[in-house]
Amino acid sequence: MENKVYTISLSNNETDSSDFAQEFINDAQSTTPVAPTTLFATPQSFIPGELLGDAPVPPSDDDVAKEPVASDVAKEPIASDDDVPTPNFNAKCLVINGSPHKDGNTARMVSNYIFENNVKLMTAVYPYFANIKPCIDCRYCYTHRCCSILDDMHYVYDDDYAHVIIASPVYFSSITPPLFNVLTRLQLYYANKRFFDGEKLEIKPKTATIILTGGGDGKPDEALRLCKIMARLMNATVVEIIQKLDTDTDPVI
Ligand SMILES: Cc1cc2nc3c(=O)[nH]c(=O)nc-3n(C[C@H](O)[C@H](O)[C@H](O)COP(=O)(O)O)c2cc1C
Repeated sequence: MENKVYTISLSNNETDSSDFAQEFINDAQSTTPVAPTTLFATPQSFIPGELLGDAPVPPSDDDVAKEPVASDVAKEPIASDDDVPTPNFNAKCLVINGSPHKDGNTARMVSNYIFENNVKLMTAVYPYFANIKPCIDCRYCYTHRCCSILDDMHYVYDDDYAHVIIASPVYFSSITPPLFNVLTRLQLYYANKRFFDGEKLEIKPKTATIILTGGGDGKPDEALRLCKIMARLMNATVVEIIQKLDTDTDPVI
């Protein structure tokens, strides 16, 4: 989709805004969705994807010794219940990393997690590098079982993963703006339940891990709240929350 300026009338005239939405939808639908890029991960190597950014860099032998130890990283146990499902790391895992750095603190936390858990197959989506537009509240999903915008969000909508890792640096106590775009597009799932009259979408139950990194001067509460909403919309039970909130003084290397 080529860059284009959409003019929105401030006259509060409904026709104007729906024209705008229709024009946006037409343009979005004229875009050919890209072929899925699946990254196969083994403990030894990653095959980088084509479009969605490189896979996290596996830690080198030197780095292993410097990996954060348990005391450096706040891990929040979710519950000691037997009810908490065990993640199936033998099945496909979706990584959504909201960092603008492909080899930054968040990517390295994700990378360590993937190696620790021996994740074998994953799709990695980096919203800063992928083409994921924000929800425009066009309400197409009130009457359809899908989103009107065809873009890289289909990696998330594909729903072919058993575990999702939602990762973000904390920005002003929240998640990063491109990751927020992803969250807004999950409105499809909410709208389908709430407004759609036809057959409901079946979102597979799955598990989730939330990973947050912060420099150290802000509280991550809002980021965590939004990541939990994201997980809930994806029908994912959060099994682990990992927060590394002192990267200014102790970067993940
Ligand atoms: C725009 C912006 C806002 C930030 N806001 C916060 C914040 O509110 N709290 C915090 O602890 N760190 C904050 N940070 C620091 C980052 O969260 C931190 O450096 C993080 O580890 C970066 O992760 P990355 O290397 O994966 O990009 C902010 C950084 C930027 C660029």
